[in-house]
Amino acid sequence: MQWTEELALGVGPMDQTHKEFVDCFNALAAAPNETFLAAFDAFIAHTVAHFDQENAWMAAINFPGCHKAEHDRVLAVIVDVRARVEKGDVALGRRLIEELPQWFETHASGMDAALAFHMQTIEFDTTTGVVGNPAALGGVDCSTATTADQA
Ligand SMILES: [Fe+2]
Ligand SMILES: [Fe+2]
Repeated sequence: MQWTEELALGVGPMDQTHKEFVDCFNALAAAPNETFLAAFDAFIAHTVAHFDQENAWMAAINFPGCHKAEHDRVLAVIVDVRARVEKGDVALGRRLIEELPQWFETHASGMDAALAFHMQTIEFDTTTGVVGNPAALGGVDCSTATTADQA
């Protein structure tokens, strides 16, 4: 997977995490079978932190729950695949790797972009948690966020 500026959404910490996501993914994709599980665990740890970060922002600004539910759904799949990899099915792990770039591009350009846009609109400071433009709060729900990730 390649990081491109098209993936940048304008929220610094989110973009940084997404760059790291691409790096972790590439390390996993390049891992030989002997170190695959260790690379998978590193990828999962980063993904948990990545999702937790966005989930915490959404909780702080009352962003609707469909995005968190998507995180939970994907993480459940990843954890399930991890358990099978541990039992020796590395091929299943590699199949997941084939699917992940498309998922990430769809998710980043859909749900993450909607969140980033909202965070910028309300002038949410990720360091202090302060909303600079509270008048812009509200007015976003699941139907307007995006349904592109539902597939
Ligand atoms: Fe994300
Ligand atoms: Fe997300």
